[in-house]
Amino acid sequence: MKKIIFVIGISLVFISCQTNTKKDVSIIPEPKSVEVQNGEFIINDETKLIYDNEFGNIDNILTYVNNHLTKSSGAEIKTAVGSNVNENSIYFKFDKNITNEEGYQLQSNTDGITISASSNIGIFYGVQTLLQLLPTEIFSQSKIDFDLIIPCINISDEPRFKYRGVHLDVGRHFFTKEDIKKYIDYLAMHKINKFHWHLTEDQGWRIEIKKYPKLTEIGAWRKESMGDEKPHGGFYTQEDVKEIVKYAQDRFITIIPEIEMPGHSQAALAAYPELSCTGGPFEVGTVWGVIKEVYCAGNENTFEFLEDVLTEVIELFPSEYIHIGGDECPKERWHECKKCQSRIKRENLKDEHELQSYFITRIENFLLTKGKKIIGWDEILEGGLAPQATVMSWRGIEGGIAAAKQNHDVIMTPGSHCYFDHFQGDAANEPHAFGSKLTLSKVYSYEPIPEELSQDEGKYILGAQANLWTEQLPEFKNVEYMLLPRIAALSEVVWTTKDKKDLENFIKKMDKQFERYEFLKVNYAKSAYNVNIGTEFNETSKTLMVAMSAEISNVNIFYTNDGSEPNDKSIKYISPFIIEESTKIKAVSYKNKNLMSKTTEKDIKIHKAFGKNITLKFPYSEKYTGGGKYALVDGLNGTNSFADSFWQGFEGDDLDAIIDLGNSTKISSVEMNFNQNNHSWVFLPEFVEISFSKDGVNFNKPIKILNDIDPKYAGSIKKKFTSQFNIVEVNYIKVYAKNIGKCPEWHSGAGGKAWIFIDEVTVN
Ligand code: ACM
Ligand code: ZN
Repeated sequence: MKKIIFVIGISLVFISCQTNTKKDVSIIPEPKSVEVQNGEFIINDETKLIYDNEFGNIDNILTYVNNHLTKSSGAEIKTAVGSNVNENSIYFKFDKNITNEEGYQLQSNTDGITISASSNIGIFYGVQTLLQLLPTEIFSQSKIDFDLIIPCINISDEPRFKYRGVHLDVGRHFFTKEDIKKYIDYLAMHKINKFHWHLTEDQGWRIEIKKYPKLTEIGAWRKESMGDEKPHGGFYTQEDVKEIVKYAQDRFITIIPEIEMPGHSQAALAAYPELSCTGGPFEVGTVWGVIKEVYCAGNENTFEFLEDVLTEVIELFPSEYIHIGGDECPKERWHECKKCQSRIKRENLKDEHELQSYFITRIENFLLTKGKKIIGWDEILEGGLAPQATVMSWRGIEGGIAAAKQNHDVIMTPGSHCYFDHFQGDAANEPHAFGSKLTLSKVYSYEPIPEELSQDEGKYILGAQANLWTEQLPEFKNVEYMLLPRIAALSEVVWTTKDKKDLENFIKKMDKQFERYEFLKVNYAKSAYNVNIGTEFNETSKTLMVAMSAEISNVNIFYTNDGSEPNDKSIKYISPFIIEESTKIKAVSYKNKNLMSKTTEKDIKIHKAFGKNITLKFPYSEKYTGGGKYALVDGLNGTNSFADSFWQGFEGDDLDAIIDLGNSTKISSVEMNFNQNNHSWVFLPEFVEISFSKDGVNFNKPIKILNDIDPKYAGSIKKKFTSQFNIVEVNYIKVYAKNIGKCPEWHSGAGGKAWIFIDEVTVN
């Protein structure tokens, strides 16, 4: 039995008694119960770390503790096995009564700290909590030469969900082994226990497969990305993978590898074109999107290949699950392929969707013989679920609901709350990203169990996961930016019980969490400090007022209204205010004397419909409200990106709005901006019509404005539709914009609902 003593380089020992208030304690994710008591314990030179025999080999945990706590002295870890617990110790106590293996209790008094658990993982989570009870400096790599004080406290904790996942796409951009280890560390400190490693894509195959060397010789390299003429690539050798798996295991994180099929497989087909329907040739994908080249489902060699690949993958990953993709598999190649069609006939399948189901079920059967279960994206529901598949619901929550109702396990990853590749603040202040806005508090608001499920059905929801796609993230620092701090919000979504979730408290705790990120020198996003400028309708005065806020609310907001740069000498924002004329507002947030934000700038344009009542025949999408009811008359225009907060989106529907000007008003122009970003299924309207009325019932013959921009135009554009006319005196204005309805034949989303996006109806 080893008899060694844990030493920290701190010389001063004294116990002081004082009252700790709960606000000093800042643990993320919030534990199940926390009682702060009077007094504190100081870890000093003499403090020993003692642990019970039952835990077996806990070197990984001791190393982890050491990495954080002995930086100051460089002293070796000194530990002792056994229950000889003296004063001045950190004691890992085996307690079989703690039934959740991930649960733990942490008790500290003036004599020492006890972490109790029934398994090593419980101890590890107790250690994570312990680290958060200590000064945030312990997250730094540099010397700490002061006392490590921990308040006397009593914590009892366990996770709400057993699947707490974060994903990373290394297909679109490759990140090094060291980057992946850092990523795993970020997951561990947030008590995430699953790392979904998306290893294969159209744009890159990233894992060495010995039997098929061309997968990485050819498939891991692309000549450019979106026309930048810069080659990109890389892959993990099997030795790298083993090292990373071990690194994750030491942190109690299971890596779930994803090998995509039947779609998102162009890189593999570039290496082995004979596995496609057409025979190729292909190059590794260079543009993002959904690509129609997929594995041939009629060819036996495809299955032999995939089984060989999976056999090697299984050897490397101890995970009970293998993710087999299954998303976004266009069926057009299968539709035209003799082999695929004869498979459909031979197997008595109805169509290509059932062929996909055949494909996935066949792979599932193979994996089951190897003792592995599959996870697939929610498209695997189409054509029938493979019998034991777990469904990852990403296109909203509907797939998850459907799967749970069929008694299948589900992991929730809806784009609305779990896609960390989306903007985390206003586009104007953010690096280029995808899709809509997913703020820290929106992540926090997520409830993984849909209300549509009964209590029994809800048990099929194993947990939730954040997905991090990397089309727009060429460097690891970009990845860090998208992951942190939103992973902190996710951690409470999946760990903390519903009754303990509290946004206000979470936001307060982020102060300390940001300090930890600072000490880790991670490139976390500070977007939550940026000021949001919007409007708020005041029901008493019946006016639209300018309102400002920051997600991190314990800041002071200062602004200017004359175009000058704001600072902490500018006007302090107290509450919403009225503006009488068009104004440029520039705002920043400060904490004490420190500038915390970028400058947010907004032009608020007063016009004749500003703040007037607007009614819509077809509702706007809840995903893109543009600010809600008054979005089209709030004086706020959008940027070129439809994903900023100022565009209102209509999915498949037309815009059909009536604005009540309140009284008879002389006007001579109406103008509207619409947006096109066809990559995201957003199109300009076919035409726009404007008509007027005195009574709100009878409208004159509309003025029609045609769209002259090609729906195929690939960039992101904002187009103004303007109508100028001789002065008329009207009470009501009707605007109608014709949605093209469905994505056209040539579009990758052909047949799917097209969007229109509008920011404002400006009336002068
Ligand atoms: C996905 O986002 N295509 C799963
Ligand atoms: Zn085929």
